[in-house]
Amino acid sequence: MQTPHPPIPGNPSGPGRPGSAGSPGGSRLDPWVTSYAERAQGMTASAIRALFSVANRPEVVSLAGGAPFVQALPLDDFADTTAKLIRERGATALQYCTGQGDERLREQICDVMELSGIRAHPDDVVITTGSQMALDLTVRVFCDPGDVVFVESPSYVGALGVFSSYQCEVVHVMTDEDGLNPVALSEAIDTARAAGKRPKLIYTVPTYQNPLGITAPPARRTDILQVAKSAGLLLLEDDPYCLLGFDGEVPRAIRADDADGVVYLGSFSKTIASGLRVGWALAPHGVREKLVLASEASVLCPSNFSQLTVSEYLATAPWLEQIKGFRELYRQRRDALLESMEQMMPAGTTWTVPDGGFFSWVTLPNGLDTTAMLPRAVAGLVAYVPGTGFYVDDQGRDAMRLSYCFPEPDRIREGVRRLSGIIETEMELVETFGPTSNTGRLPRRGPRTPSPELP
Ligand SMILES: Cc1ncc(COP(=O)(O)O)c(C=O)c1O
Repeated sequence: MQTPHPPIPGNPSGPGRPGSAGSPGGSRLDPWVTSYAERAQGMTASAIRALFSVANRPEVVSLAGGAPFVQALPLDDFADTTAKLIRERGATALQYCTGQGDERLREQICDVMELSGIRAHPDDVVITTGSQMALDLTVRVFCDPGDVVFVESPSYVGALGVFSSYQCEVVHVMTDEDGLNPVALSEAIDTARAAGKRPKLIYTVPTYQNPLGITAPPARRTDILQVAKSAGLLLLEDDPYCLLGFDGEVPRAIRADDADGVVYLGSFSKTIASGLRVGWALAPHGVREKLVLASEASVLCPSNFSQLTVSEYLATAPWLEQIKGFRELYRQRRDALLESMEQMMPAGTTWTVPDGGFFSWVTLPNGLDTTAMLPRAVAGLVAYVPGTGFYVDDQGRDAMRLSYCFPEPDRIREGVRRLSGIIETEMELVETFGPTSNTGRLPRRGPRTPSPELP
């Protein structure tokens, strides 16, 4: 069946077309506007997203995006691997594969997860188009509209986009320097149940969290798991940064201690290459079956070419050494960010000190609004992600996420210099005229779709 082509805005609509005189609704910009499903209502591009198209200009130092520094990969080795793959197994690599994903790669993924203390069977691994898709599939098979998902305060923007697209109610749980607070988590679950709501999932990024940069210590992980078990809720553990710890230690995953109550998400995006789009879910056996069916309904199968490229790379390249190189590179950039913030940030500014991953969470002195400040920062040639992007309920106005993964250390220092100047000017404005929260505030309409600039 052909998809009807929307009439060109401004042209007279034909009979029976959406937006025409014979049918209700529609607008000149989008004639289908009244036809969307309810679940698409929250899918609106934010004004912040529009600003990021400007922020991507080379003269802007972007401390906003979470893109890994793939330039540091051994690109010639990659070229050899892919050329060899096409020459020797092209007919397989360029063909469909099974919905669950390549068997050898699933075995290799089990070896990778062993580094986090996880013992798993390849049968329980589902390969996906990045872990973002694994997140989407898990929410799709578990959540009905109105189901409650408990998340960190703040939480990964891409996950918030998934929850909102399935019309979940997101509850931000108090998060301290060790991660999700188990007492607050337990109380939030009780409160939701007492209000007649349906708690369904607990979503957590316990290691080098996006956006906070913090890591839950072992005892905290045990407590969170205990709360999930006693509440009878599935725990969704999202772990894309686990191999990027600056001391080389890989924290033990929560999934390592419970095979039945945790869906674990992993990814090669941060450790090898995000453009390959290879991630996975490790799920309890019954859940795995549902995820495969949901994946087949969505994409038939993940890219075989990408899977075999990763598999070949893992089999032939010194990938652990390569990741060690990434860790060192990101550690230097983290140091550049922290040192320059120490030297230049105005008094009263605070930030988290990440032991791995890509991000630090910066909180500004009272009265400053990072969403309102962003256009002025971009005009001053530096970009960040305002804290509100990581909440569904407008919290985080005084905070921002800075990422150090992509710019070179000198650019990071220059970015912090510019940002410190912007913050100082903003502080003077607040002292003189009061809080800026309502001036220049970017409009926020409903939950955002995850933006590629914000991973
Ligand atoms: C916490 C978290 N989960 C999932 C993802 C998605 O990663 P992938 O590229 O594997 O889809 C990201 C990307 O930034 C992330 O930060």
